[in-house]
Amino acid sequence: PVLVVDFGAQYAQLIARRVREAQVYSEVVPHSMAAADILAKQPAAIILSGGPSSVYEDGAPRLDPALLEAGVPVFGMCYGFQSMAQALGGTVARTGAREYGKTDAAISDVESTLFAGQPPSQTVWMSHGDSVSAAPEGFAVTGTTAGTPVAAFEDDERRLYGVQWHPEVLHSEQGQRVLENFLWKGAGITPDWTPGHVVEDLVESIREQVGEDRVLCALSGGVDSSVAAALVQKAIGDQLTCVFVDHGLLREGEAEQVETDFVEATGVDLVVVDARERFLEALAGVTDPETKHKIIGEQFIRVFEQAARDVVHDRGDEEHPVKWLVQGTLYPDVVESGGGEGAANIKSHHNVGGLPDDLQFSLIEPLRTLFKDEVRQVGLELGVPEVIVWRQPFPGPGLGIRIIGAVDAERLAILRRADAIAREELTRAGLDRDIWQCPVVLLADVRSVGVQGDGRTYGHPVVLRPVASEDAMTADWARVPYDVLATISTRITNEVEEVNRVVLDVTSKPPGTIEWE
Ligand code: XMP
Repeated sequence: PVLVVDFGAQYAQLIARRVREAQVYSEVVPHSMAAADILAKQPAAIILSGGPSSVYEDGAPRLDPALLEAGVPVFGMCYGFQSMAQALGGTVARTGAREYGKTDAAISDVESTLFAGQPPSQTVWMSHGDSVSAAPEGFAVTGTTAGTPVAAFEDDERRLYGVQWHPEVLHSEQGQRVLENFLWKGAGITPDWTPGHVVEDLVESIREQVGEDRVLCALSGGVDSSVAAALVQKAIGDQLTCVFVDHGLLREGEAEQVETDFVEATGVDLVVVDARERFLEALAGVTDPETKHKIIGEQFIRVFEQAARDVVHDRGDEEHPVKWLVQGTLYPDVVESGGGEGAANIKSHHNVGGLPDDLQFSLIEPLRTLFKDEVRQVGLELGVPEVIVWRQPFPGPGLGIRIIGAVDAERLAILRRADAIAREELTRAGLDRDIWQCPVVLLADVRSVGVQGDGRTYGHPVVLRPVASEDAMTADWARVPYDVLATISTRITNEVEEVNRVVLDVTSKPPGTIEWE
């Protein structure tokens, strides 16, 4: 693999993902891993990620020069670039002047390994305090910016490369090409990590992990769990049973869609459990979001435990109890639930941080290192129907975390109608692929005065939260045309009696999250 050494939690996974977009397999390793252990993984190349703003900062992670001397091609980015310069005898100056955001880089050698085939001037994205003021011996300086005399360098002989900027972010317009040049030309790696390979690899490791055991899959009908189910089915066939839980927090038409679209296409063994009463009872009166996430996570597990006993019983095969539970957990779920190296717990996604401690299953999470768009590619490769592959994300806790306030059947019915209208109009306007997802949120404890016909109303607001995103890690509010918003607003306030106001959420992520809870 290509190993990305993680010097700071935010960038490393994104770099790994860009490497995989270049069709080269990549994994992240923490900077605390010993150089010998990193080299023992026989990396085809090493990438040093960005990190803290200064190599002089207290406790700033240090680069072991052994990584640079092993004959493995290395590419340093931002902090990784500076660490590399420092380790090899260059100079890193504490200028104190920060360079932040978009900058123009002048490329002095467009035939160099990193910049071959690119224009002599390119917009790059910078975020640093210190600067490299002198490159180490043997390196050619290939790029500069107004604030940084040494912004890119390379030593083709030792196959060591670096740039001061962040090629992994989309604001660096040639970023992907710089990275590909490093991988394909500098390191000489053949790009053959394709969705087909990913499927083969995952199928193989699932078979190894599971053996002869019986497996349950928590199927929600969304992209992630559907692709996970299709993968596991490909790996182990009828050792798998899928469980779809109707927890009463679903949107209109959801249960039906799973039964028709997914089961027909894949032929998986499906059990539908009606658990509406139990979830609503457990949630009664609860308003705190973290408590809701945890309750829902726990109830899911209890339902699966019961389903597991039923499956074994129905098959009359007590010798093979269910040992494994498949979940469609993705990388962003893991990071945001505090599972990434040094990452903070933003919220407990019900399927990660929300799991109870006394879990009776071992988890299979085949998509745990992938991003959504990669999962979609894998899904298409597996023949999962396009209506499912391109479905917008819908969180496992469903409408339960879209009612701000306590959840009950009446409030759910209100939100369900408003949500169905919004979805229908966004689809009619042809916006489904432009919008990442559009939560509709009911502010159940808020009321406002309105007038309709000749009468006063005292109803609830709903919030539209359309967002554009690449991977749900960051998002911007989506610019839905005014006339579409107007139609949605008119229809909701006319057709859903309890709602007398529709408001638009214009917050990016960060600082907001996509969901309100
Ligand atoms: P946030 O709100 O954290 O959402 O910006 C990021 C993405 O994750 C979805 N989401 C969840 N999915 N269980 C899930 O399966 C959860 O508890 C959960 N919370 C948020 C959210 O819809 C968005 O796509």
